[in-house]
Amino acid sequence: MSLQGKVAMVTGGASCIGRATALELAAHGADVAILDPASLVQAVGLLAEIEKLGRRALYVPGDVGDRASVEQAIERTVTQFGRLDILVNNAGVSVRKPLLELEIADVETVWRVILWGAFHCSQLAARQMVKQGGGGNIVMISSVHASRPYPNATAYNGAKAAVNHMAATWARELAPHGIRVNAIEPGWIDTPGEHKAFSEETIREEGKKLPFGRLGRPEEIARAVRFLVSDDGSYVTGSVLRVDGGFVLFR
Ligand SMILES: NC(=O)c1ccc[n+]([C@@H]2O[C@H](COP(=O)([O-])OP(=O)(O)OC[C@H]3O[C@@H](n4cnc5c(N)ncnc54)[C@H](O)[C@@H]3O)[C@@H](O)[C@H]2O)c1
Repeated sequence: MSLQGKVAMVTGGASCIGRATALELAAHGADVAILDPASLVQAVGLLAEIEKLGRRALYVPGDVGDRASVEQAIERTVTQFGRLDILVNNAGVSVRKPLLELEIADVETVWRVILWGAFHCSQLAARQMVKQGGGGNIVMISSVHASRPYPNATAYNGAKAAVNHMAATWARELAPHGIRVNAIEPGWIDTPGEHKAFSEETIREEGKKLPFGRLGRPEEIARAVRFLVSDDGSYVTGSVLRVDGGFVLFR
């Protein structure tokens, strides 16, 4: 198991891509802490699944946009598991509105979670990794929106672009400490959020037009995370890995 002895924290790990990532990392040997505002009741099943894989699991209810909450989550993880080797910045929210209708509060909501969340978690996790020694890994779950100006997503597009650039900056700064920092750009992934945003017919018909005739699956993003944070990705840092089934080639 390539992640044996490693401790990972997955933000927004209670559902969809985050959940699949937590399970993938656990299946390959990592103990996993989940930082998510979802209720403990929602997380119980996931914790049991991680433990069934023979790994330790910790659920920390919290908010990545709140510095004190992140500090507490990292502290609890280190107290419980002794260290932190892998951070996956997966938590995300989106407000879909055209620029002309966008409220300041909408922008703040998105930037608070995606941008400030990634900043707080990465800075505090990196400090812990440097303190304990032995390197580490930080992965941003970004989006193809980072480089493509899809409309009605001003705050989201801007935040994802910023996250990619912060990741590249930190990759340079943290390389001397053996900490690798990378970003993944998922394309259109089949999650309940997408089923809320789009009609079933749109998902079915638009999905057929994608190169593989379907949306991506959360597990397909999770496997890319596992590659980046394992020794298989030992020479990869400052990179953006698009996992989109060719989505941007056509849209
Ligand atoms: N689904 C897609 O098509 C798609 C495509 C590209 C990128 N992404 C990105 O992947 C990531 C996960 O997306 P998903 O589709 O699984 O979304 P999701 O809404 O199912 O999951 C997001 C998770 O983040 C958590 N979260 C929200 N606010 C939080 C906060 N303040 N602190 C901690 N956790 C918080 C939620 O509780 C939830 O568990 C997001 O960053 C999203 O932008 C998704």
